Amino acid sequence: MQDRIEQLRQEFSVKLGQAASKEAVEGLRIEYLGRKGIMRDLLSAMAGLSAEEKPKAGSLVNVFKNEITAAIDAKFKEFSVSDAPAKKAGDFDITMPGIAPGIGHKHPLTQVTEEICQIFVRMGFEIAQGPEVETEYYNFQALNIPKDHPSTDAFDTFFLDLAPHKKNKIDHNWLLRSQTSTVQIRVMEKRKPPLKIIAPGRVFRPDATDASHSFMFHQIEGLLVDKKVTFAELKGALALFASQMFGPGTKTRFRPHFFPFTEPSAEVDISCIICSGRGCRVCSQKGWLEVLGAGMVNPAVFDAVGYDSEKYTGFAFGMGVERLAMLKYGITDIRLFYENDLRFLRQF
Ligand code: DAH
Repeated sequence: MQDRIEQLRQEFSVKLGQAASKEAVEGLRIEYLGRKGIMRDLLSAMAGLSAEEKPKAGSLVNVFKNEITAAIDAKFKEFSVSDAPAKKAGDFDITMPGIAPGIGHKHPLTQVTEEICQIFVRMGFEIAQGPEVETEYYNFQALNIPKDHPSTDAFDTFFLDLAPHKKNKIDHNWLLRSQTSTVQIRVMEKRKPPLKIIAPGRVFRPDATDASHSFMFHQIEGLLVDKKVTFAELKGALALFASQMFGPGTKTRFRPHFFPFTEPSAEVDISCIICSGRGCRVCSQKGWLEVLGAGMVNPAVFDAVGYDSEKYTGFAFGMGVERLAMLKYGITDIRLFYENDLRFLRQF
């Protein structure tokens, strides 16, 4: 029995060495381990052995069987490893579209801010920025809003307890700015006229949140200072802005109003972009939509920054980005801008 197994072992190892494909290995597996295979014959041959011989022969057959099984398994693996790359290369279709990564896009408020700024940049304005954490002085007094004046009530806002900054000699109260008009002062303090700036940014007010109010929103401020600037230039610049932002037929209307930092001041309306002025639900049948505040820079503001108000004049304006975006896209609830709901944001 031992000799027989030794002979079979040698034969097997030669045959396995020659097996050059998966199919050939499978053939060997059937030949040796299959139902009518050589292993089976060996086991049947054991029947003719004596009781003493049987256990020894049994263990020899078992060892041999395990050897063959392991060798065949290993050979199979060799083929599947070397097969794998070949198969992948064949399967790879370079004409299939790839999986595009989600790249997202700008928030609608960013898009509208950029659109507005670009219109003014084309008119020669440059973009300026100022801090969101401001002092009372920049938010109120420098803009000709006296301390404790009732008009500050609407902005009686997010005051901050910044004790270490109390060394500031101009003002002792810090707050989150309630308007971007602060940037007018910041820029004029640093630079000499002439200047033409546009200042986008976040502002904060103690308003209860509803469909048209938010404690935080965005404004864009404009300021132009030069010699001999007149109200006609203000009207011209804003009419051009309205037609570029809302379409060529858009009309503007200036209504007298009060702002402390401009004199005279106006609220500016555009002809309703939905009904072109005929009257509809969006403009409450008025035919006009209020879009911004504007006016000629109050000499008191020039005094605050040390500009000679006899020599220079200027105009300023301020608008709310959310409001313009809502009008432009027919959005009825301001909260949609801040909720980060992709079903809303993906529409822009
Ligand atoms: N700061 C004003 C506000 O927040 C908007 C404004 C009105 C800005 C008139 C101006 C202006 O520069 O001239 O309501």
